[in-house]
Amino acid sequence: MNTVKFGTTGENVSEMCLGTMMFGDRCDQAESDRILSAAIEQGVTFVDTAASYCQGRTEEILGNILKGKRDGLFIGTKVTKTTAADWVLQSLDESLTRMQLDYVDLYMIHWPRQNMRPVEMMEALNTVVQQGKARFVGCCNFPAWLLAHCNAIAERNGWAKLVCNQIPYNLLERGVEVEIIPQAVTEQIAITTYRSLVLGILAGKYTPGQPIPADSRGQTDKRVAAWLDKYGESIKQFNQFAADRNLHPAQLAVAWVRHSPGVTAPIVGVSSQRQLQASIDAFNVTLSDEEYTQITGMFDTAVKEESGGSFAPLRRDLNLVSCAIE
Ligand SMILES: NC(=O)c1ccc[n+]([C@@H]2O[C@H](COP(=O)([O-])OP(=O)(O)OC[C@H]3O[C@@H](n4cnc5c(N)ncnc54)[C@H](OP(=O)(O)O)[C@@H]3O)[C@@H](O)[C@H]2O)c1
Repeated sequence: MNTVKFGTTGENVSEMCLGTMMFGDRCDQAESDRILSAAIEQGVTFVDTAASYCQGRTEEILGNILKGKRDGLFIGTKVTKTTAADWVLQSLDESLTRMQLDYVDLYMIHWPRQNMRPVEMMEALNTVVQQGKARFVGCCNFPAWLLAHCNAIAERNGWAKLVCNQIPYNLLERGVEVEIIPQAVTEQIAITTYRSLVLGILAGKYTPGQPIPADSRGQTDKRVAAWLDKYGESIKQFNQFAADRNLHPAQLAVAWVRHSPGVTAPIVGVSSQRQLQASIDAFNVTLSDEEYTQITGMFDTAVKEESGGSFAPLRRDLNLVSCAIE
């Protein structure tokens, strides 16, 4: 497993980040323990969780299974309900209690909220860093302008800046290529990506045109049926492309995200140890640029802008600023 620089933090993390959203939801503590242990054994050092997962149960499970394993891990959690300063402070205390930790490596705002107050939020995030409860702070699902706005506030006040943006990115959801990823490359914001497998659709879990399997997230998440319907033909081509190369579809899906410019660490979410292996193996798959383009072309998902012309490509140009970081 390669390690990668995590934005401006000076830290290195494993290129794969283990997502834990299914711990306590679709897998019990014993299976979660097996997943975490197997991931660590294979070099994973980066673990993602959130206060909201399974109403706190995920963090409790992590607290139980992290014993003796915490050293060397880079653990991130998130505050979900609001971005209000008092809640930003309180939620981290609750997360630390559930995880039986003194500090996390990364504390993220889970979602921007309507009528949020960025100054108060950034001050609270700075407070948790000053208190030693989080080493770094970041965000998820922030548009580029909001991240820039928040970091300008931090800069003016000498506060801790947001070091990462965690976003959905996969062959179907590519809106982040406009602005969010170019911003990240230029500003050295670490980009972690979720939904790499499109909830299992790109992991061979579902067959377009066939009933949704009983034991699957597609039973409760309506996006699965809608996406299978919309992209059925593309998914079949994608699965065939993987089979022709003796790859598991999950390997190919994660390899595509990994090959995409500006991505620091794809997050891999699994609900069993068996599923984990396919995704970990993706980190040994190197796509050629030609293969990457071929796979991308199977899905007609690049964000299109009516006017075309020169403005659309400018918005996703990674070399627009000459100081763009290597
Ligand atoms: N910041 C945010 O707003 C945000 C939002 C969502 C997620 N996340 C993070 O990202 C992580 C991943 O998100 P995600 O779980 O939604 O996305 P995902 O990686 O696209 O989907 C994971 C699902 O794919 C299926 N799967 C995985 N490996 C498989 C395999 N080898 N064969 C067949 N099916 C396989 C499993 O579905 P079944 O369980 O049905 O088997 C698994 O639950 C989460 O754990 C969380 O840490 C962050």
